[in-house]
Amino acid sequence: MIKIQQISKSKIESVDFDNLVFGKTFTDHMFICHYKESKWQPPEIKPYEPLTLDPSASVLHYGQAVFEGMKAFKDLQEKIWLFRPDENYKRINRSAHRLQIPEFPEKYFFEGIKQLLKLDEAWIKQGEGNSLYIRPFVFASQSTVQATASDEYIFMIICAPVSTYYSGGEINVLIAEQYSRAANGGVGFAKAAGNYAAQFYPTSEALKKGFQQIIWTDANKHEYLEEAGTMNIFFKINDSLITAPTNDRILDGVTRKSIIEIAKGNGIHVEERPIKVSEIIKAYENGNLQEIFGTGTAVVVLPISSFSYRGISYKTLGTNNTAITLKKQLVGIQYNQLKDSFNWTVKID
Ligand code: COI
Repeated sequence: MIKIQQISKSKIESVDFDNLVFGKTFTDHMFICHYKESKWQPPEIKPYEPLTLDPSASVLHYGQAVFEGMKAFKDLQEKIWLFRPDENYKRINRSAHRLQIPEFPEKYFFEGIKQLLKLDEAWIKQGEGNSLYIRPFVFASQSTVQATASDEYIFMIICAPVSTYYSGGEINVLIAEQYSRAANGGVGFAKAAGNYAAQFYPTSEALKKGFQQIIWTDANKHEYLEEAGTMNIFFKINDSLITAPTNDRILDGVTRKSIIEIAKGNGIHVEERPIKVSEIIKAYENGNLQEIFGTGTAVVVLPISSFSYRGISYKTLGTNNTAITLKKQLVGIQYNQLKDSFNWTVKID
């Protein structure tokens, strides 16, 4: 079904797997499929190489593009596992639908990933923290500066061997008071390329002040906590976990929903509800703000040790017990070291 052209010589020998920088090294092959004449054409896997695009390609002007982030893991028996890939498939099509991009066929998505993983299997290293980050994406490729939906698209999958996203292990964040990530009726729930581009300037200002990420608040009054950079966000207050509900502003994170299920299975009370900045400041003042952590495919589960709001810095109690326990359970399932009673993992044979 997929035409495969293999590389003649792998570049894997030149890669320093002990010093990988997230998202900078890519495997030998890539998957590519063109949408033309109102249909997806037969896909191909070929050597990883630059693309040639017309300077007027619609995506370069209007940003009509969406993507996914997922990972493959290698267990101790050298078997390869995906984690909830059906969720990524559904979500890329939800994102595509909102951006007026045609739905991508299921069989091409799954067969493309499977064949790529088989060809580039050596790039997946064993050991906790090591994985292959899989990046499916689709963009408008029609040559036109007309501000309308394109009638040509390119769907691709590329893969990057990765270890940890942030080297430090925990981060400090700034709560947004001026800028916004998403608004009602917008594209916040989608993995639209532009959602991330719009965060770069405020985030770089925050980086200059010593923060690694921004926690975005609602665009209306900046009162409610929503998500942080590439992560959904959880607060542990009085032994309960609280996270914002998914809606048209918030990404329906696969790690987010998995952590909620694992936490509930551990008997932890989880609340998916709007949470105000004032509520966490009050919890801090009462000594009840136990933990804050972010979740996402790239970061997995990442403790947030402090946040700053209106120029004042607040620290959590700093134990991060819940974040550490939940991460251990999630990662144990992903690497096939713990029983997957949820049926989330998919073996590649
Ligand atoms: C994810 O964690 O889900 C991502 O896709 C991260 C990426 C934006 C670097």
